[in-house]
Amino acid sequence: MLIGIVGAGAIGTAVATRLLAGGHEVVLSNSRGAETLTETVAELGTGARAGTRDAATAAELVVLAVPGDRTAEALDGVGDWDGRVLVDATNLYTTTPPAPDAETSSEAVARRAPGARVIKAFNHFYAATLAQDPRRADGNRVLFVSGNDAEAKKMFTALLADLGFAPIDLGGLAEGGRLYQVPAGPLIGQDLLRLTPQ
Ligand SMILES: NC(=O)c1ccc[n+]([C@@H]2O[C@H](COP(=O)([O-])OP(=O)(O)OC[C@H]3O[C@@H](n4cnc5c(N)ncnc54)[C@H](OP(=O)(O)O)[C@@H]3O)[C@@H](O)[C@H]2O)c1
Repeated sequence: MLIGIVGAGAIGTAVATRLLAGGHEVVLSNSRGAETLTETVAELGTGARAGTRDAATAAELVVLAVPGDRTAEALDGVGDWDGRVLVDATNLYTTTPPAPDAETSSEAVARRAPGARVIKAFNHFYAATLAQDPRRADGNRVLFVSGNDAEAKKMFTALLADLGFAPIDLGGLAEGGRLYQVPAGPLIGQDLLRLTPQ
């Protein structure tokens, strides 16, 4: 499967590393242009290429991995997503914790991506951790997932499981997303293993 990635820094390349290891292809984009990503795609190896933001967001599955305060800019002008899946890996750092019933950062991303089936994932631990093989001797690394579209989550969690992760569906973007949102979500920063039954 070809996956588009918007943002080719620590998280974008960590996601790309795991997808490539699983036999997928990725098109990575950034704000400065594909020509600035020559070294990055060479390091990632076979299956990775650089493209424009529009080339990346044309894929059926797109990962958003830009700084949290640049999501609007990164999504501006994409138009209707027509059901394509957008995985929001961003964290929006704020000086004061949001009110308990405030819009979550991934709901804000969804608002800026009309027609996209948005999933929140890849944001709850460090990029260096995410880049590692999630298959451990005693279990599989847990990834939290939330989203409002059941079919999109089914497809995405199957992909994660195929990559060796242990996905846990926490519900919709509002109630689930809040649990692993910065700064105060109780599951943010958690790096858990689902132990293999003995
Ligand atoms: N690093 C982590 O351990 C970690 C862990 C969990 C979640 N996160 C979250 O993941 C997101 C990315 O973090 P990161 O550490 O990967 O950041 P990073 O290393 O600074 O990379 C950010 C990437 O986003 C690109 N970018 C910025 N604005 C853009 C735009 N308007 N359109 C397209 N691309 C744009 C940058 O490209 P240019 O340089 O060309 O602008 C760069 O490739 C953040 O929201 C962060 O909070 C990070």
